[in-house]
Amino acid sequence: MFRINEHFLKLSAGYLFPEIARRVASFAAQNPAVAPRIIRCGIGDVTEPLPPAAAEAMHRAVDDLTQRDTFHGYPPPAGYDFVRTAIAQDDFRSRGCAIEDDEIFLSDGSKPDASAILEILGTGNRVAITDPVYPVYADTNVMAGNSGKALEGGGYDGFTYLPCTPANGFSPALPACVVDVIYLCSPNNPTGVVLDRAALTRWVQYARDHGAVILFDAAYEAFIREEGLPHSIYEIDGATECAIEFRSFSKVGGFTGVRCGYTVMPKALMATASDGTRVSLHSLWMRRWATCSNGVSWPVQCATAALYTTAGKAQTRALTDFYLENARVLARACETHGLATYGATNSPYVWMTCPRGMGSWETFDMLLREAQVVTTPGAGFGRCGEGFIRISAFNSRAHVEEVARRLAVLARR
Ligand code: MLT
Repeated sequence: MFRINEHFLKLSAGYLFPEIARRVASFAAQNPAVAPRIIRCGIGDVTEPLPPAAAEAMHRAVDDLTQRDTFHGYPPPAGYDFVRTAIAQDDFRSRGCAIEDDEIFLSDGSKPDASAILEILGTGNRVAITDPVYPVYADTNVMAGNSGKALEGGGYDGFTYLPCTPANGFSPALPACVVDVIYLCSPNNPTGVVLDRAALTRWVQYARDHGAVILFDAAYEAFIREEGLPHSIYEIDGATECAIEFRSFSKVGGFTGVRCGYTVMPKALMATASDGTRVSLHSLWMRRWATCSNGVSWPVQCATAALYTTAGKAQTRALTDFYLENARVLARACETHGLATYGATNSPYVWMTCPRGMGSWETFDMLLREAQVVTTPGAGFGRCGEGFIRISAFNSRAHVEEVARRLAVLARR
């Protein structure tokens, strides 16, 4: 009889976004008259077309595949050099971060990377995650056997939760206990808050002092507009010795359907095996990559490289500006209705307090029922998310303005 990975049985609920989609589908089936009015600001899925530079590059790349002399078969597992160079240069070296081309590993997105990374880390690591948190970090660690049982009221035994609340400006304090793996996301999903240089410096120091590794998710980096905020953890001295960074083109390039992201795995990052041998994580990751993946397709890599051209950069800036303006429209509407909001300035997410003590699922249901607006209940991101709603700014301007009007239902509570 074969076995299964029984750690999956510990998962307390379905993955958050399919669960929301299920509730919305059920509401639509029961209320066909208002179903066409539904506007989705739940999952952060982009709505605007691809930047023309990326689309044109992808068309040309498909043409390449139709000719014998420009045909491309298997790509190099970690990506073509021209893409890795563009990324390392523009995203890191231009900001003073000493990241080399061969420390960039292209993939089909940062969510798969955040999951795959656990294959090269051992089981039994003590894991610290923020609360609220992007559910992937928690769920993948449950699947990998790094947690105990699901707890009554949310969360899992065995994780060290780092509360992020208005009281600490959603910037988590260092843990009181020793942990091995630390997940940080900045700009944060779901709160939209960016960790400043002082906060990241404390985390890098903690990781170096305790031999921990930081898994730094910078999928929303392109939305940072405020001067002086770090875009990468490698802006902090010593971070190449203790941090892995994940990036995504999903939001900056409108690639949620195209699929491309990357991991930065610095060669300076070393681990200690149980026999005391020092081991390079870069070589483990390369080994894993060469065995488990055939990389990213030629058209997608060409489209990705096009985002780094002069035209591509102007277009991605315009795209992220567009979504940021949406976020401002939504945040202003919440504030007009007397609801405190966070995020929204360097992030495409508005983190809104629920009206007058309502629960987050209750607010979600009310917005769906009375305004036909889909949001994400904060409780879906963790216990400290209770009392908040995340509103995604990924939508057309017309829809965002309509949502801003419909949020008036909250003022009537
Ligand atoms: C979100 O809505 O949190 C993200 O779009 C989900 C994801 O990136 O997987």
